Amino acid sequence: MNYASTPLSVTINIDEIRSHFPSLHQKVNGYPLVYFDNGATSQKPDVVIEAVTQFYSQQNSNVHRGVHTLSQKATDLFEEARITVQKFINAKSSNEIIFTKGTTDSINLISSCIAHAPLLWRGEGGEVLISTMEHHSNIVPWQMLCEETGALLKVIPINDQGEIIWEEYLKLLSNKTKIVAITHVSNTLGTINPIKKMIDEAHKKNIPVLIDGAQAVPHMKVNVQDLDADFYCFSAHKMVGPTGIGILYGKEKWLNAMPPYQGGGSMIKSVSFEKTTYNDLPYKFEAGTPHIEGVLGLAKAIEFINGIGIENIQEYEHELLAYATKHLLEIEGLKIIGTAKEKASVISFVIEGIHAFDIGTLLDQMGIAVRTGHHCTQPLHERFNISSTVRASFAFYNTFSEIDRLVDGLKRIKKMI
Ligand code: ALA
Repeated sequence: MNYASTPLSVTINIDEIRSHFPSLHQKVNGYPLVYFDNGATSQKPDVVIEAVTQFYSQQNSNVHRGVHTLSQKATDLFEEARITVQKFINAKSSNEIIFTKGTTDSINLISSCIAHAPLLWRGEGGEVLISTMEHHSNIVPWQMLCEETGALLKVIPINDQGEIIWEEYLKLLSNKTKIVAITHVSNTLGTINPIKKMIDEAHKKNIPVLIDGAQAVPHMKVNVQDLDADFYCFSAHKMVGPTGIGILYGKEKWLNAMPPYQGGGSMIKSVSFEKTTYNDLPYKFEAGTPHIEGVLGLAKAIEFINGIGIENIQEYEHELLAYATKHLLEIEGLKIIGTAKEKASVISFVIEGIHAFDIGTLLDQMGIAVRTGHHCTQPLHERFNISSTVRASFAFYNTFSEIDRLVDGLKRIKKMI
């Protein structure tokens, strides 16, 4: 059945875009692949794949270490990439862009270092404020910090739509709060949190705010200066870049106030057995040989996204979301978990009487890739009294007819079971 009657209001050349993604043009279990697991990781365009290959076939050498030509070339490309990231999120300085392994690593960097910075972490005890909808990577590092420091973990409740309860947030913000750590977009609910307003409120009480932007940066314009975020974390692999590379944005004054995360090469100015002096930003936080090809691939991913226009991506994905929501709700017994007013292109759902795992397995047999389970948000699933959901998460290379395939597939599954 073809439901694709919704006219596209954005100028996005979907065929041209898809032609750049080799992995999208394959059959899985005998069917053309429908890839709806973009929340877990996105597919990669040819320019990103080529950048990684080209590094190994032409520029391969270490960065910041050699006087020889290849090392200089690799270093130049690596540092140009840092500026590409800086411009992409409108950071004030490239010193504020730290390359990490990913969002999880970025959050762990802050949770490991912050309590050692008296400018940021004043006095004993205190509280760390997160929300019910956090990914485990924005819960567990803070629990570890709380265990170490005696601070308490406080959790902002959400309503049945999956939105932060604003009054509760305001009540929980106090002079005991040491940091607020909140997701920009929920990986399970799709909720877009009002982070600018949340940051403003926290700043009224001089509380720094860390944003988990893993699910936001691929889908919407992020301007860290406009948000006034203290820390903003995201991953390359969810935004058509390589795996194993992420970004920690931090205000320079805070990054300068914190001790290094790890010791090793690159993060030092001089080393003797008596005393080591640490390097300046951003290198202070980049010990060891970095993920060079990952950084070069990330720069190409950003150029690719810029070529389409992040605003166009946002608008197109919004239409995919509206279309999918409408047609999924036509399936009897299907319930969407996460119905916030402001949502990114993520739909988690349950179908009465059918286990999420069975749905995921049967969809896979039809060539449709979705995620099933708790999506690393167990406390959030508990909040909704469910153990698992099926999640379809869309990217700008997905199409309306792929959504038709999902809807038809689910109808078939309902008939089968
Ligand atoms: N955080 C990723 C997801 O939501 C892995 O699937």
